[in-house]
Amino acid sequence: MSERQPDIGLTAEQALFVPAARRLAERFALAWLQRPPASGFFLCLGAAGLELHQAGGRAPGAVRVEFSGGAMGHRLRFGGGRGQPLARAVGLKPGYNPSVWDATAGLGRDGFVLASLGCRVTLCERSPVLAALLADGLQRAALDPELTDWVDERLRLVAGDARSELAKLNAAQRPDVIYLDPMYPPGKSSVRVKKEMLALQQIIGTDEDACGLLESALACARRRVVIKRPKRAAALDGPKPAASVASKKTRYDLYVTV
Ligand SMILES: C[S@@+](CC[C@H](N)C(=O)[O-])C[C@H]1O[C@@H](n2cnc3c(N)ncnc32)[C@H](O)[C@@H]1O
Repeated sequence: MSERQPDIGLTAEQALFVPAARRLAERFALAWLQRPPASGFFLCLGAAGLELHQAGGRAPGAVRVEFSGGAMGHRLRFGGGRGQPLARAVGLKPGYNPSVWDATAGLGRDGFVLASLGCRVTLCERSPVLAALLADGLQRAALDPELTDWVDERLRLVAGDARSELAKLNAAQRPDVIYLDPMYPPGKSSVRVKKEMLALQQIIGTDEDACGLLESALACARRRVVIKRPKRAAALDGPKPAASVASKKTRYDLYVTV
């Protein structure tokens, strides 16, 4: 994590949401705000769920973890199912769904896709802001009639640094696959970055310790480690990947651990 992590507190949209908002603030050790700040980022619990806002006139729209409908619904319907590059990289086969630790969960989108395909997925996130957004998104997803059958059963959240969390696992708890998608420095391309990525770049910065995380993952995964990389970027420093799976904008580097 770069040094840019600003202090981000949590508030409620209306009095009705204050008790749940205070519980979330306590669970993720976030500062409680009586009202939104005049500048900077803040979290707000309201009718739409927990959202990350940026105060100020020209701020981009709010960001929340949304597993129901919208972009995720589209990805689940048209993303290519078990044949999509992410699923092939993780090693899904007919009748075989590996257990997965998504050790850089972020907004949970890749982990959620893998769970929708049948994998049991642990979402591990070290930013308390992202972890709170994930907890709220999972809670709302579990209430969606289209998702309720499998969300609680296949997904769980661990708030903490994956390096120390992986080190705590005993032999029986080690996952088949560890999936990594660290934050990279923003590219030189002038392509408009989506508001979600813009917010992540501003509150997380760059995950400069990704090589250390790869080392921890290689020591823990039963079968393989998969790292998502920008398509034309070099592999991470360390052992060479055994293979790669390419998609339109991304490359998944595979490291076999069996
Ligand atoms: C690019 S985002 C991941 C996006 C995610 N794949 C998705 O589909 O939404 C990277 C995330 O990994 C988290 N992260 C980086 N290193 C971590 C570590 N050692 N332990 C836990 N989380 C980590 C960052 O805080 C950030 O939220």
